[in-house]
Amino acid sequence: MSQWAAYVKDVTKTYGAGATAFQALRGVDLMVMPGEFIMLSGPSGSGKTTLLSILGCVLNATSGRVELLGHDVSKAKDGLLADLRLSLIGFVFQSHNLIASLTATQNIAALLELRGQGKKAARAEAHRLLDLVGLSDKYESKPGELSGGQRQRVAIARALAGSPPLILADEPTAALDAQNGLAITETLRSLAKDGGHTVIVVTHDNRIFHLADRMVKIEDGKIVRD
Ligand SMILES: Nc1ncnc2c1ncn2[C@@H]1O[C@H](COP(=O)(O)OP(=O)(O)O)[C@@H](O)[C@H]1O
Ligand SMILES: [Mg+2]
Repeated sequence: MSQWAAYVKDVTKTYGAGATAFQALRGVDLMVMPGEFIMLSGPSGSGKTTLLSILGCVLNATSGRVELLGHDVSKAKDGLLADLRLSLIGFVFQSHNLIASLTATQNIAALLELRGQGKKAARAEAHRLLDLVGLSDKYESKPGELSGGQRQRVAIARALAGSPPLILADEPTAALDAQNGLAITETLRSLAKDGGHTVIVVTHDNRIFHLADRMVKIEDGKIVRD
């Protein structure tokens, strides 16, 4: 058992094979403590999304070791990986990925039902999470009726559904103005500070860098500064 929320050792990722093979990660080491609020930054194409997807059990590393809260995910088979993803990870996507035909409440409750909650409990929990991100008046709004910042808040609330210990966010402020970007980042930060979650944010938004506990910089598939 390791004490790390995430332990990444000598991880590589190669997309494709043969002449078209591309090595997106070239030996990444990263140790993250529980409760840390980390930003992972670097130029476009440097491997940020690839690394976050490996941490999120969405992609397998080509080689190296990945442990999340003591679970060795580098050797986990697909079925176990899906279970770990569901129990350990909340993912906030760059483009929020909300379902347009569902209300804010339904977008969150659907995931809770997938995690085994009954309909009524799922609705109540969805409302609690929307309250937490300051959207108490938007329970019944659909994504198209919300601002960009509000949609991103719903996406964060959904990532918190079931209280997974590890929250991963891929450029959550990319589509937002400075004020909304800061507010969203403050929300993510408070999850780590007050909520006991470990939060890793991928970003190249220098307007929010000052809020990080720790900055990790990645270039050409390697960590160059930590
Ligand atoms: N599915 C894929 N197939 C082939 N190459 C990919 C794939 N996904 C990403 N890449 C390449 O890997 C590199 C890193 O991509 P990515 O992790 O998305 O970078 P970032 O998020 O930092 O912009 C890029 O050069 C990208 O073109
Ligand atoms: Mg990316």
